[in-house]
Amino acid sequence: MRVAALSDFLLQRIDRNCGKPVNRQLYQVVREAILSRVMPAGLQLPSSRDLARELKISRNTVTYAYEQLMAEGYLETRTGAGTFVTDTVPDQIPEVDDIDIKRPRQGSDLGLSERGAQLVKHAGAYKFQWGAFMPGVPDVTAFPNKVWSRLQNKYWRRSRSDMLTYAHGGGYLPLREAIAEYLRVARSVNCSAEQIIVTSGIHQSIDLASKLLADVNDRAWVEDPCYWGTRNVLTSLNLKPTPIAVDDEGISPVAADLRHPPRFIFVTPSHQYPLGQVMSLSRRRMLLEYAAVHSIWIIEDDYDSEFRYASRPLASLQGMDTHDRVLYIGSFSKTLFPGLRTGFIVVPPALAEAFATGLSDLYRGGQLFTQAVLADFMTEGHFASHIRRMRVLYAERLNLLRESITRNFGDALPISGDDAGLHLALLLPDDCDDVALGRAAQAQGIIARSLSGYYMKPSRAKKGLILGYACVPDELIGPTFDRLAALIRKHANCPS
Ligand SMILES: Cc1ncc(COP(=O)(O)O)c(C=O)c1O
Repeated sequence: MRVAALSDFLLQRIDRNCGKPVNRQLYQVVREAILSRVMPAGLQLPSSRDLARELKISRNTVTYAYEQLMAEGYLETRTGAGTFVTDTVPDQIPEVDDIDIKRPRQGSDLGLSERGAQLVKHAGAYKFQWGAFMPGVPDVTAFPNKVWSRLQNKYWRRSRSDMLTYAHGGGYLPLREAIAEYLRVARSVNCSAEQIIVTSGIHQSIDLASKLLADVNDRAWVEDPCYWGTRNVLTSLNLKPTPIAVDDEGISPVAADLRHPPRFIFVTPSHQYPLGQVMSLSRRRMLLEYAAVHSIWIIEDDYDSEFRYASRPLASLQGMDTHDRVLYIGSFSKTLFPGLRTGFIVVPPALAEAFATGLSDLYRGGQLFTQAVLADFMTEGHFASHIRRMRVLYAERLNLLRESITRNFGDALPISGDDAGLHLALLLPDDCDDVALGRAAQAQGIIARSLSGYYMKPSRAKKGLILGYACVPDELIGPTFDRLAALIRKHANCPS
């Protein structure tokens, strides 16, 4: 391209009145011309002085554009020769005869992978994370901010390079020690600090355990119904969640299930999610024995066991395990606040080092400041007193919700799981479309997740609503439930 041709080309594309600086426009036009190969590799450009004269603009304007294009690798100067389009600009894809054509993806038009499309299709995370009756969310407004900020300031006052860089291993040791101490006392978990791996919560704990202990297509038993997050993390890793029925004693595999030992068994023994029953002692023993005989990993999700109202919290399944088959996963999401994104796995001693290495290599740990603050929060006794305070508050809210249910329906609608946790399940007649009911509630600004949505096997899905009460101010519980009750009467055949 000669200087005159190039300047014509550029003049047609530069608009001095469009409000955009001419040097930016010049840079963009040349860049696009190079990328579309209108200006091919090796083409010599005029000097900045000549181009400025042709375009009737200042030399500085051209110099700016040339320098920017050089910095980004589109142009190069060759000593004594001038400025050229570089050879390294991506060239045409060479012609290849024997292209290996992959089978068309089922995923979606967006270009998602099959598992990506599945994840999006079955996504469980709600766009609302606060309000009546959001399940699984504690009252974050009651969190002792002042104590937290005092502890935090202590660390930020000093500059600590070891706290601001990547973490290595299983997390901040004093926090692992504090968690181990707490779990030994409160949950009868058998553990030392080395066995604690600090994660960003239960989702990450499941992700890490699955990556380290299972291979693609391995089967993982999940309770049916179960937490949608467990199911979705497993599916996204190409594991096969296998739904196993639950009864009043917890997960209840039948002979046909037991004939095919899985790689994992995911359970919520202290408080079945979402129905709320406690796993019986005999079921616990059966599971532990079955896992030991077939080398299965049991993952005990103990997400909210601190909040038990009528009796003391129950001991963990891990504490009964004498064969090191249980990995215990816990979270600070319910005890403190979900945005903290901090949880932990307790792994058998033989796996501790592999998990610490896996954590660093897969996610490059960090958050040491936060972990240090949390360690102090626990060792200074604030954690235990916050839980005590919240237990009283949530018990009151649970009672208010129970009273509202009784006021509206007497005992016509059974309640499940109302002696622990942050939610209860209100069971509805089988012919009720709880999904439509949930949608109608949402249209009125009420969060009421449908119970049937938690089941993998539609034929066994019970109908109902999962109602969280922990984050609902006392005075809103009754009036909001009354509005929900009106919708329930419309959708379900129950007394008015
Ligand atoms: C059964 C169960 N496991 C895990 C979680 C999530 O835990 P985390 O916030 O630590 O990822 C929840 C949240 O509601 C839950 O209900």
